[in-house]
Amino acid sequence: MLLEVRNLNLYYSDKHVLRNISFDLKEGEVLCIVGESGSGKTSILYSIIGLLPENAKLEGSIRFKEQELVSLSEKEYRNIRGRHISIVFQEPSVYLDPLYRVGTQVEEAYMAHFGKEDAKEKALQALQKAGIKEVDRIYNSYPHHLSGGLKQRVCIAIATVCNPQLVLADEPTTALDVSIQSRILKLFRAMKEENRSVILVTHDFGVVAEVADRVIVLKDGMMVEEGDVWSIFDNPKHSYTQELLRAI
Ligand SMILES: Nc1ncnc2c1ncn2[C@@H]1O[C@H](COP(=O)(O)OP(=O)(O)OP(=O)(O)O)[C@@H](O)[C@H]1O
Ligand SMILES: [Mg+2]
Repeated sequence: MLLEVRNLNLYYSDKHVLRNISFDLKEGEVLCIVGESGSGKTSILYSIIGLLPENAKLEGSIRFKEQELVSLSEKEYRNIRGRHISIVFQEPSVYLDPLYRVGTQVEEAYMAHFGKEDAKEKALQALQKAGIKEVDRIYNSYPHHLSGGLKQRVCIAIATVCNPQLVLADEPTTALDVSIQSRILKLFRAMKEENRSVILVTHDFGVVAEVADRVIVLKDGMMVEEGDVWSIFDNPKHSYTQELLRAI
């Protein structure tokens, strides 16, 4: 098993935001997390990658390739983040540094774990794989020159440049038009072929149908439904899932 999450409970100050979350993720699997705004989707991803805010208290267990993550120090997390587990944030513009060319930022993500020798080549490859056509021009651009969709793709390149085993993607396709969106989904499917895994947060059941192996439906910090993608579509058990499906 690549990832084993057990009895996760998360509190922000006194607010209980995740309640007894447990799930597994295998190598080569795409798991989609769906649920309404505020249900705790981003909080699950931040718990896994160790980016919770100061006021957070996390209980339970997250094992990644047998290693317990919940008790890791920031220093230990830095060896994992980007290299073994990476994240595409919900808000790409917040994440990119306005002062540096985007190519440099993709290279830095690579150089944080590998040498600088072939960093430029790897960065260009990652940008291309993320669906960017004029790679050389984009490489030399500053974030404010790019559209939201392009910034999102740069963030996807940053998250994939080290070839991590697990990519966490927080609504990565919402800002993208349909053809770019399908390219990104193709990239996730290609990761599957290489036996790597993805946890994808999305509101879009169309996206779920296209890439998910399994689905978790979250409501008020609780898992109200979990199953393989077809049983969820064919036979949604929880009324909330039925409601979500009716909405499409
Ligand atoms: N730093 C924080 N301090 C206190 N409460 C927070 C903090 N971050 C998030 N929350 C609250 O925790 C709950 C879960 O938030 P989270 O961002 O995980 O939801 P989400 O499902 O990702 O929502 P969205 O679809 O809007 O992105 C929400 O009620 C939110 O208001
Ligand atoms: Mg969120």
